[in-house]
Amino acid sequence: MDRIRIRGGNPLKGRIAISGAKNAALPLMAASLLTDETLTLTNLPQLADIATLASLLAQHGVAISMNGEAPQGGHSGRALSLTAATITNTTAPYDLVRKMRASVLVLGPLVAREGRARVSLPGGCAIGTRPVDLHLKGLSQLGAAIDLTEGYIEARAPHGLKGAHIVFPTVSVGATENLMMAATLADGESVLVNVAREPEIGDLARCLIAMGAEIAGVGTDTLRIRGVKRLGGATHAIIADRIEAGSYAIAAAITRGDLELSGVSVELFEAFLECLQRMGVAVMPTADGLRFVCSGNELVGVDVMTEPFPGFPTDLQAQIMALMTTVSGAAMITETVFENRFMHVPELCRMGANINVHRASAMVRGVPHLTGAPVMATDLRASVSLVLAGLAARGETTINRVYHLDRGYERIEEKLAACGADIERVRGNA
Ligand code: UD1
Repeated sequence: MDRIRIRGGNPLKGRIAISGAKNAALPLMAASLLTDETLTLTNLPQLADIATLASLLAQHGVAISMNGEAPQGGHSGRALSLTAATITNTTAPYDLVRKMRASVLVLGPLVAREGRARVSLPGGCAIGTRPVDLHLKGLSQLGAAIDLTEGYIEARAPHGLKGAHIVFPTVSVGATENLMMAATLADGESVLVNVAREPEIGDLARCLIAMGAEIAGVGTDTLRIRGVKRLGGATHAIIADRIEAGSYAIAAAITRGDLELSGVSVELFEAFLECLQRMGVAVMPTADGLRFVCSGNELVGVDVMTEPFPGFPTDLQAQIMALMTTVSGAAMITETVFENRFMHVPELCRMGANINVHRASAMVRGVPHLTGAPVMATDLRASVSLVLAGLAARGETTINRVYHLDRGYERIEEKLAACGADIERVRGNA
């Protein structure tokens, strides 16, 4: 298995092109199941999770083609064309779904188009139980009969889905996406109340509208969707990855460096930017992105609470915690979205961090310096927090189980090395 080796202490300086958002790309790829015409997605990031979903879609009968690599330094990413002319198989098998929970996003589109789907239950994962009850309840409100048998979700709507009024008791990104996609082909109007408002949801809605869907209320907490008989093809550019961008902004801060991130804009992550500014990081607009300057600034701890958008994203909680370990004063970090999302804490403590966890809150007290250590990545965002800590630490840090990083960060070691980080990937045998 590959490892990442970092010798910390270099302030990062330079420019990083932010890739297309993984969490936008995955539902957009699933949306290709809704039409027999071609959906072309541009600015596609090159990530393991994208390859996993492509394999799943291929076994449903989707023809997939990829045109070329990203031009050096640009953000155009790659273009993926997906054509689900005929769906040959409506089963999403355990072997593929267990690799990535977002596979459950094929459920809504398959039932909406084919009237049936059999999708493996994703099961537990490192950051909590992560149920799919909201996806299933919403689909049954749209008229699907749902059974759970032998670890699989069986959904059937032989006469098609029917529009419904669905109120989400909890805000869920995945359930909003699954039901928004399903409702586009339902008979009549659906009203989805208390939906997630993450930028990736808006991106999916814009693509569905380009495919012919009728969706109003995009960007608000209520979506009104008038079902149409069929959707057509479209070409859609995937928005920038705000979590990748946030991680690199923290790389600038934690090394007291100066990085320009191209392709991002303020409205993608205002709560996060405000937190950095309160800590003492200067954030400035550039011609095509944002610049983060921390050289010479003394940074201070501030309290953070994760919340659904527009609040502070849970996917940047581990990274901001790594930064808080290196600043003056203390910070209370509270995780409200997921249970059990502090697995990075013991690893950060092995690098000299001072963190105490009590239930959903972590009290972080800044230390004069972190020290390099061999550490173990447990999930995607936890892994990158260890990379960030390694960039700041004295001495050498080795991060094991790098495959977590490859799920969500495109060429991370190349992007960081180009800005002065002493970082390399050590290839493993297995
Ligand atoms: C998505 C993101 C993930 C991010 C998360 C929260 C993708 C591919 N993944 O995950 O990176 O961390 O949003 O911003 O976009 N819940 C239920 N029942 C359900 C569904 C969810 O109780 O049926 C709960 C979850 O356990 C969690 C909360 O709702 O506590 C939010 O989860 P959700 O927004 O659904 O996350 P994902 O869509 O899985």
